[in-house]
Amino acid sequence: MKIHKIIFGLLFLSLLVCTSCKDDLKTSFIEDNVTFSTNQIQAILDKVGEPTGKNYPRTIKDGKLSTTNMYDWTSGFFPGSLWYLYELTGDSTWKSKAEKWTSSLEPLKTFTGHHDLGFMMYCSYGNALRLAPRPEYKDIIIESANSLASRFDERTQVIKSWNHHKSWDGESESFYPVIIDNMMNLEMLLEASKLSGNKRLYDIAVAHANTTLKNHFRDDFGSYHVVHYDTITGAPITKVTAQGYSDNSTWARGQAWAVYGYTMMYRETKDSIYLNTAIKLMDYYLKNLPEDLVPLWDFNVGQEGYTPQGVSYAVEFREKLKDASAAAIVCSALFDLGKLTNDKRYIDIGIKMLESLASPSYRAQLGSNDGFLLMHSVGSIPHHSEIDVPLVYADYYFLEALVRYKRLDTK
Ligand code: GLY
Repeated sequence: MKIHKIIFGLLFLSLLVCTSCKDDLKTSFIEDNVTFSTNQIQAILDKVGEPTGKNYPRTIKDGKLSTTNMYDWTSGFFPGSLWYLYELTGDSTWKSKAEKWTSSLEPLKTFTGHHDLGFMMYCSYGNALRLAPRPEYKDIIIESANSLASRFDERTQVIKSWNHHKSWDGESESFYPVIIDNMMNLEMLLEASKLSGNKRLYDIAVAHANTTLKNHFRDDFGSYHVVHYDTITGAPITKVTAQGYSDNSTWARGQAWAVYGYTMMYRETKDSIYLNTAIKLMDYYLKNLPEDLVPLWDFNVGQEGYTPQGVSYAVEFREKLKDASAAAIVCSALFDLGKLTNDKRYIDIGIKMLESLASPSYRAQLGSNDGFLLMHSVGSIPHHSEIDVPLVYADYYFLEALVRYKRLDTK
């Protein structure tokens, strides 16, 4: 009897010790990454100075930090990263910086030149509204959502991504291209619908997600990058790639946007169609990963049956390239999906993915990489642009994943 009590006591004690070890490891992992990130991002701020409307950090080009003007699709990620640093540290100096960089984007609220307004205004103002609300943020988000909604057409039932796109073979030219990335712009519409009571914004987001579900995926739930729609009939005409390996291949970041987008759609609507879709898209993504959980830039690169698009250079060179940005996006989505489904498997793989990204293979050395956090992403290989470089959106989703991991009760 006594020996049983002792054994039971020891087991209980070791369980407590294990749990607290795990907690300590998690805390120190997060602390280490937050300290690293604040130092790196401060180095970027030291280089770019105050926001001018023309100096949003994006990547490294020709050995130097390269910035964009506010109309580039990536302009919201740096302000968004500053918000995540505020959330991770609780330090109000990050809040001030985030506010300043966010406010610099206000003129975009009426911008209708392309579909990326969700990325630009929701990563910035969406986080601002969540973390340090001001009355004007609500109006800016609603106005931005209306600008984005102006690109929706009843005939196609989708939001037009770009105004124009030509396929690589030049055979199809479209005036209604929709890219899978567009799923990421819908969260702003859903939030603006809640804020304004305008149901049309919600309906547009749902219509876009439903039409995309019909036209953008193959039977195995790999995704097409671009679907061209007929402007008269509204029907899909051709399915091609812009940034992937081949028209019929699955571009890793495109799949990442899809995984994240449908997980978000389920979170916001609770419609199980989106959950089932997110799970199938995630299954496809996870099934095709290498051991370190960071994908090649395209899942079908170099495979038989896939004709490479765009500029042609050695297939072996392409095969080596990973895309850390896709990994960071999916890592963040895994924490969301894990929480929504209460399925620990998603959380566990999310933690492993985050650890891989934070390892020396992908996380830069402190003081290097021009202040960016992660190395080894790709912008667009067919355009021979941003190959094996840091990208501001890889860093944004890495920080978002850290926030989501920190918030989770992982015991
Ligand atoms: N949304 C553009 C890209 O993922 O490159």
